[in-house]
Amino acid sequence: MRMANKNVVVTGGASGIGLATARRCLEEGARVVIADLAAAEDSLKAAQAADPLLNTARFIAADVTSADSVDALFRELAATWNAVHGVFNNAGIARGGPAVDVRDEDYLRVLDVNLHGVFRVAKAAMRAMFAQGHGSIVNCASVLASSGRPGASAYCASKGGVVNLTRALAMEAAPFQVRINSVSPGFVDTPLLAAMPDDRRQALLRLHPMGRLGRDREIAHAVLFLLSDEASFVTGSNLVVDGGYSAGKE
Ligand SMILES: NC(=O)c1ccc[n+]([C@@H]2O[C@H](COP(=O)([O-])OP(=O)(O)OC[C@H]3O[C@@H](n4cnc5c(N)ncnc54)[C@H](O)[C@@H]3O)[C@@H](O)[C@H]2O)c1
Repeated sequence: MRMANKNVVVTGGASGIGLATARRCLEEGARVVIADLAAAEDSLKAAQAADPLLNTARFIAADVTSADSVDALFRELAATWNAVHGVFNNAGIARGGPAVDVRDEDYLRVLDVNLHGVFRVAKAAMRAMFAQGHGSIVNCASVLASSGRPGASAYCASKGGVVNLTRALAMEAAPFQVRINSVSPGFVDTPLLAAMPDDRRQALLRLHPMGRLGRDREIAHAVLFLLSDEASFVTGSNLVVDGGYSAGKE
């Protein structure tokens, strides 16, 4: 069991990549808290009802756009566990449109969830982990951290920010034996892409040399590695898991 006796919290863990990672951590013996919006609890309950292992995860309602909510989450974790070993900073949204049309509030909302939310959670996690003298944080970025896409200016900005924020935070965390890395998935078949029309989906497939989208579990494997002690000398890195998407860019 690669995560035996580890306590892991996954933000945005009620769906998609977060849910797959929560399950993967449970498979490896971790205790898992899924932190997500209160509105996500019902769909998580449905997934848990069909999956006894997933059912052992605890749900705590948290909104990463609120520092108070994130602090309350970490107070609850401190009351529950003697240590927080791993944090998957995964909550994210994709909202967009052409930059010339995008509404300010939509642009800012994406930044607030995807980038500032990662910072709020990392800050609270680092406080706990510095006091413990160990821990691993994985921030969810994207291949769109290092390449552009029409209609995705806020998303690209947020994910580019996550990769370099990760490096900066890793510099502060390393002396405390706390590791902070990011993972950059290619496009993955999750509810985030559910509304995409078929022609755009087909175009996306062609961007991945492997000719398909990623699976949530394939990202979960990579996150599990970074959370685990197998990555004990890995910090400040960005692990790309994208079926060749980035390697194929000219
Ligand atoms: N699906 C992809 O193609 C893809 C590719 C690269 C990166 N990512 C990233 O992976 C992460 C997970 O995405 P996914 O595809 O699994 O999406 P998803 O929509 O299935 O899951 C996202 C989860 O985040 C939660 N969430 C949203 N706002 C929140 C908030 N303010 N506070 C707490 N939780 C919140 C949602 O309720 C949901 O459960 C995101 O950061 C996303 O940007 C996804």
